[in-house]
Amino acid sequence: MSRIDRLIAAMTLPEKLGQMTMVSAGYAVTGPVVAGDARDAIKAGTIGNLLNLYGPDRVREMQELAVNSRLGIPLLIGLDVIHGHRTLFPIPLAEAGLFDAEAWEESARAAACEAAADGLALTFAPMLDVSRDPRWGRSAEGPGEDPWLAARIAVAKVRGLQGKRLDDGSAIAGCAKHYCAYGPVTAGREYASVDVSERTVHEIHLPSFAAAIAAGVSCVMPAFTDLAGIPMTAHVPLLRDWLRGHLGFDGVIISDYNAIAELIRHGVAADLTHAATLALKAGVDIDMMANAYRDGLPQALARGWVTGEDIDAAVRRVLTLKEQLGLFNDPYRRGASAEPEAQRIARRALARSIAGRSMLLLKNESSALPLTPGVRRLALVGPLADAPGEMRGPWWAAGEERDPVSVLAGLKAALPNTEVAYSRGTDIESDDESGIDEAVLLADQAQVVVLCLGERATMSGEAASRAHLGLPGRQRKLAEAVIQRARVRGQRTVAILFSGRPIVAPWLFESTDAVLAAWFPGSEAGHAIADVLTGRVSPSARSPISWPRAEGQIPIYYAERPGGRPENPADHFTSKYLDEPNSPQFPFGYGLSYGRFVYSSVAATPERVRESGDVEVRVEVRNEGPREAEETVFLFAHDRLASVARPTLELKGFGKIRLRPGEQGTVRIEVPAREFRFLGADLKSVFEPGEVELLVGPYADRSRLLIASIMLVS
Ligand code: GLC
Repeated sequence: MSRIDRLIAAMTLPEKLGQMTMVSAGYAVTGPVVAGDARDAIKAGTIGNLLNLYGPDRVREMQELAVNSRLGIPLLIGLDVIHGHRTLFPIPLAEAGLFDAEAWEESARAAACEAAADGLALTFAPMLDVSRDPRWGRSAEGPGEDPWLAARIAVAKVRGLQGKRLDDGSAIAGCAKHYCAYGPVTAGREYASVDVSERTVHEIHLPSFAAAIAAGVSCVMPAFTDLAGIPMTAHVPLLRDWLRGHLGFDGVIISDYNAIAELIRHGVAADLTHAATLALKAGVDIDMMANAYRDGLPQALARGWVTGEDIDAAVRRVLTLKEQLGLFNDPYRRGASAEPEAQRIARRALARSIAGRSMLLLKNESSALPLTPGVRRLALVGPLADAPGEMRGPWWAAGEERDPVSVLAGLKAALPNTEVAYSRGTDIESDDESGIDEAVLLADQAQVVVLCLGERATMSGEAASRAHLGLPGRQRKLAEAVIQRARVRGQRTVAILFSGRPIVAPWLFESTDAVLAAWFPGSEAGHAIADVLTGRVSPSARSPISWPRAEGQIPIYYAERPGGRPENPADHFTSKYLDEPNSPQFPFGYGLSYGRFVYSSVAATPERVRESGDVEVRVEVRNEGPREAEETVFLFAHDRLASVARPTLELKGFGKIRLRPGEQGTVRIEVPAREFRFLGADLKSVFEPGEVELLVGPYADRSRLLIASIMLVS
């Protein structure tokens, strides 16, 4: 008889329901309910899991209570390590823009090491929700708008977090969330109902979860939301039938915070007993913060709504995860020893490197960037210039508010011989304009003006939808006053945007010489920004999400189907607006560097390919710019004629090349022909013979892409 069999045979019902319960230890409140003190329940073995607790001593204190309980089952302790633990990396939306699976994995590995050293064995990451609606604050936490990209991020993050063996002391269990289709909440409004087609669910929102499962993710968290009227926490077809049945996922499903109790508010459960029954029958193993399993399942069992086997199956999965993590063998292993200083230093260096590579250069005219060496006086203006806490972005885990390097500190360190004159000018969100005049005057004597504008860290992430996506407060008034004066004085103006989403600010993109989207760069923000502004790092990020010109364009994304009347400016009766172009301000994949790349000679071989074959696409790229830089080359596909209408562009691959000025090189992108499968009218995967266009270039705009084609043959 295995250890788990013995334990299940010995456990009382309250002990079993305790293993199916997770409560917040209150060190970080991430939901509407704060638990009291769980110590007594842990001692009694009637709470088996905690979240929002970290620190070796705190974890050891709680773990000792559990280990000394009647059956000595160790606690599973988790935290939202979304983009770093104490050392913060750029927010996931920013990091997606690296288009570099090694980097995605490396930062997750670094975060897992730091979190495990703090006693954690689980994180509620990666967040894999595809989002095409920047009103939704949680776009910041995710992989952007593209399912192909999201699936590759999923694999890299699961590998990084879980390492090669889950029982390794530096491994933590990942939790793919929020399953699924949370991104298309109605009107971009947080927690709102979701209603998208089954095709959209399977084509757009499930691929990243299927990839995470294939990569061996330990846990899955259902979304708060309903999908066409069925709350994900009770979604039998997608949890029990698709996730567990079709994909064979036998890991742990953890509800979101209080989500089981919220089935009552959804209107599908009469009370906690009914809610607990629905969740358990759908396959949810752990109840986070609703106490629905502890309070509701005894009655559900008595009424025959659930069986002892249902409960034992959930307990088994939880105990199996704890065994896989090595918690039974050594519950104190994570947090037992402090990390070597060299590892901490290396992690900060990695955070700086990844932050520098996440900076998205949206505009750079009049050679505003990089800054000319020897600039005598630089005016730094705006509410995000000296705001270290805001650099963390949403979900800062254990990242301390004063820890990050501010832009001001970073620029001073990088430009010791430059006078960096700073003025806040206004707040992020208030109506205070009293500092604008001083800021304008301060900028007067400078050769270059750097504006630091954007959102507060808490204006994206959870419970942070925005209906207006411009700069909050009086930042526009500040920027316009400074820019207008700078133009008169012939000064260069550089705007750095800090946000968890694309910002709608056509006036800013129009009026400044350069715009750098820094997103929220994390602990090394100031140094990374200085690296880019001074040219020590050439920006290379590409946007993983479309930037709207106006909120009215949302949802906006590149991979749209053509419709029967695709946009034709010459034809009134075609798909377009009267008052805005259809095109985004900046498309998916857009991003400038300090080079300038020209494409030529695209070719695809073989001309005819079977499903079992591979396609190679080659393209010549030349750097005609003044500085060495890295270019990411995208490969899109368009199946012009198929049994269902296909998007006009679909990302199928990318390649990278680093070139010095004047240098030319060949980029080769390999694509297995099975990548051209799609879901037929019956939503079953098909491989249809016929021509497929292959489009290669810098971003998702057909006018910028070189076109080859291949013939798929059966
Ligand atoms: C929050 C979030 C979820 C997070 C969980 C625990 O409400 O929806 O992403 O992992 O609760 O903090």
